[in-house]
Amino acid sequence: MSKDVLLCMKQVEKSFSGVQVLKKVDFEIKQGEVHALMGENGAGKSTLIKILTGVYPKDGGTFFFNGQEVQINSRQDAKNLGIAVIYQELSLVPTLTVTQNILLGQEDVKAGILNKKSMREKVLALMECYGLSLDPDAVTETLSIAQRQMVEILKALTLDASLIIMDEPTASLSSKEAECLFEIIKTLKEKKVSILYISHRLEEIYRLSDRLTVLRDGENVAVLEKDQINPTEVIRLMIGKELIDDNSHGQMRPFQPEVVLKVENLCRKGAFSNVSFEVHKGEVLGIGGLVGSGRTEILRCIFGADRYDSGTILFNGMPLPSSVLKRIRAGFGLIPEDRRNQGFVPLLNINRNIAITNYDILSKGNMIVNKKDEMAMCRKAIAQLNVKPNNPEINVGNLSGGNQQKVVVGKWMMRNLKVLLIDEPTAGIDVGVKEEIYKLIEDLASKGVVIILVSSDLKELLRVSHRMIVLRHGRIVEELKEGVVFQEDVLKAASGILGGEAVNHE
Ligand SMILES: Nc1ncnc2c1ncn2[C@@H]1O[C@H](COP(=O)(O)OP(=O)(O)OP(=O)(O)O)[C@@H](O)[C@H]1O
Ligand SMILES: [Mg+2]
Repeated sequence: MSKDVLLCMKQVEKSFSGVQVLKKVDFEIKQGEVHALMGENGAGKSTLIKILTGVYPKDGGTFFFNGQEVQINSRQDAKNLGIAVIYQELSLVPTLTVTQNILLGQEDVKAGILNKKSMREKVLALMECYGLSLDPDAVTETLSIAQRQMVEILKALTLDASLIIMDEPTASLSSKEAECLFEIIKTLKEKKVSILYISHRLEEIYRLSDRLTVLRDGENVAVLEKDQINPTEVIRLMIGKELIDDNSHGQMRPFQPEVVLKVENLCRKGAFSNVSFEVHKGEVLGIGGLVGSGRTEILRCIFGADRYDSGTILFNGMPLPSSVLKRIRAGFGLIPEDRRNQGFVPLLNINRNIAITNYDILSKGNMIVNKKDEMAMCRKAIAQLNVKPNNPEINVGNLSGGNQQKVVVGKWMMRNLKVLLIDEPTAGIDVGVKEEIYKLIEDLASKGVVIILVSSDLKELLRVSHRMIVLRHGRIVEELKEGVVFQEDVLKAASGILGGEAVNHE
């Protein structure tokens, strides 16, 4: 082992209920390097880092830290070594403030009294140091997902760690916030901190990583040096085949005359105003815009999860049914952005999670559900979305991040949909499955379903949309309905620069 190696894991093994998910994995990371860990959904990435950080016990393997063999049996052991982690599922306490969460377990206590002032100052100094701005007194549950992610990062930074593990840190960040994170990573590297970086966003990987390890089905299949890292090779190693990835532009398509959804002058205070658009039968309408531009709120209002203050929404020329339940019955579906809180129930198995949304269909109106029908529906969803493992009895909370999302998508696919509202459908989904989800969306559209798609992934928006609108500060600033549209066109409209000129919609 060369002496600049910070961490070396040898022959790590792990099984869950007899299924081996890590098979003699070797992994090492040098001081001050950004080392990417790549692999398909369910490849074992999160499991490997949970073992490294003392969350799960390992079945076999040895760890060396700074050349010494070490035992990591608890989260505290990992912390003591200087290993900090930002998990894929955020682990903050919703009812505590930003400061309390950041300094949880490291409170400044003198003679039994909490020194709130010094804690607050410490947090402010840390934010200043990394160029972040958050209200230190805000209650965490009132923050957006992106802001909560920032809190997680700040929490890791207080530990003075020599290794920081980031499991999909940008999954819910806007591009500006992601840039901010990349700056932090740069600063950390200069301070000789090592970063273990997991992401399904390939552009980030190419940009940030010094080295890259690929896991496939729980095995280490390759370690690439910086000059060996290229898109085709990484994808081939991850999924075992080549994928063509050329979605830098999209072709808008003509629409059918039949209007299914008509939104007129919709307003919700503080979120969006005077929003009007139509969606036609079989059309995929993409909504572009920066995080916070009001996109998610519009979807939630159409679904009925939130109220709007004024305006109308017509569905086939008629006012919308009054409740969420009635809208679901009428054929509406929503795949929410915050899947962990709104998309599924972690402690219920796949079978139940699929069934909950579909009891009306399963019970056929007589309140009795046939277990066989329930299981058949579940198996159909598992097969359609290729959920792994394909066992209906596994709790959704125990699936890998990407497979949880497949369950959320799958349960809506079992319905006779008329309008599907989709918010960031592929966050945390690997490249291969992304393409499968796009095909599902296309398939639904070809059957006449109306789809409204919100995504921060521009390639995705351009790949899937038939027509696009772009929001800025809660207003529609652009409609892109003809010809070829480039990423740049959407970015310009979203950030307020149209045709080289600033537009004033404020
Ligand atoms: N607590 C658990 N109980 C049972 N099985 C588990 C548990 N945690 C993980 N697994 C299984 O281990 C395998 C690897 O999961 P892991 O979360 O490590 O994947 P991943 O590479 O992080 O995927 P993703 O990109 O989707 O996040 C999966 O098949 C998953 O279902
Ligand atoms: Mg994971």
